[in-house]
Amino acid sequence: MATTSRSTASQPVDEPLDQAVGSTPVHVKAVDAPDQPAVTPELEDLYRGFEKELLVPLWTEIGDLMPPYPRSKAQPHLWEWQTLVELADRAGHLVPVGRGGERRAIALANPSLGGKPYASPTLWAAIQYLMPGEDAPEHRHTQNAFRFVVEGEGVWTVVGRDPVPMSRGDFLPQAGWNWHAHHNAANKPMAWIDGLDIPFQYTSEAQFFEFGRDEISDAERVTPDRSRSQRLWGHPGLSPVSQIGSTPGSPLLAYRWEDTDRALTDQLELEAEGYAGTLEPGHAAVRFTNPTNGRDVLPTIRTEFHRVRSGAETGPVRETGSSVYQVFDGAGRVTVGDFSWSVTRGDLFVVPSWQPLSIRSEASASDSDSGALDLFRFSDSPIFEALNLARTQTH
Ligand SMILES: [Fe+2]
Repeated sequence: MATTSRSTASQPVDEPLDQAVGSTPVHVKAVDAPDQPAVTPELEDLYRGFEKELLVPLWTEIGDLMPPYPRSKAQPHLWEWQTLVELADRAGHLVPVGRGGERRAIALANPSLGGKPYASPTLWAAIQYLMPGEDAPEHRHTQNAFRFVVEGEGVWTVVGRDPVPMSRGDFLPQAGWNWHAHHNAANKPMAWIDGLDIPFQYTSEAQFFEFGRDEISDAERVTPDRSRSQRLWGHPGLSPVSQIGSTPGSPLLAYRWEDTDRALTDQLELEAEGYAGTLEPGHAAVRFTNPTNGRDVLPTIRTEFHRVRSGAETGPVRETGSSVYQVFDGAGRVTVGDFSWSVTRGDLFVVPSWQPLSIRSEASASDSDSGALDLFRFSDSPIFEALNLARTQTH
């Protein structure tokens, strides 16, 4: 580890300079307010004593520490897909992919989270871009991840030496601590989105990361139509008896668009026939689940697909925890708290904790294969449910 001439055994290198010269990071302000003690010289002296001894009284902080309802530090925001792709393509020509940087991934930075690469306080969302013939090297990490493909095909993600093809509409979960690499076998670049729990795990201070092989083998550069995980797990309602037992992440490494599309179409058709199935009128929704236990595909991330019939409007609904949506097809109007945007294919937006969301579909046959507004969603809901902090308000 690097040291400096200032370092001694009793003074760590990272010690802030202001503390080293006797100041304190604690600042307690006496305020003349009905719920605060009278401001007197004795109170000021008491507060200076708190500061010196690194103590903070609850009565000056309770409004921020224990608010009556969630006040997210994140802000609703929209990123336009075409702008992201143009910038990612420029990066494709300037920035090599290799060991160290690991991925040509460009993360969404929420405007009110200090420039950190966090879409929300818990979720990472990035556009990843791979040029023709490129490989992204193998590694593994405790962070849970997935890929979702809004356009293109030709990239294979290799998870645990199982090559998995990626095409438009496919959802590919990859639970923490699995080896993975990517390979673009096509003759043109491909972009997709990565979702991870990086901000949450950064707060947890429980992350691990390891480099794998620098090169994937020729056997992994083959391009099968179906991965081995699909052949084992990709049959609705059927689990291999040799593999019975719950796993924390889904062993099915790809959920194909044709299955998702059919499920959403069937829900809306059932509704039209007078049967239950949709989440609300004109709003079909499916959740990607782990076939070993029916729970979310990843321990910390929930993923869903929503289809809103043209002319229908959802919500408003608000939930604890945050979500990121990507428009898969169609157009519409999205309102999150005080923000409202027109959205189209590929656009990404973030819904912070307890901000009301409603979506109006303005899709048509000219901008949507299904004629509806289709949206992919991921959220941190499993964390909040596990901690008994999940709340939803629908009115
Ligand atoms: Fe990774």
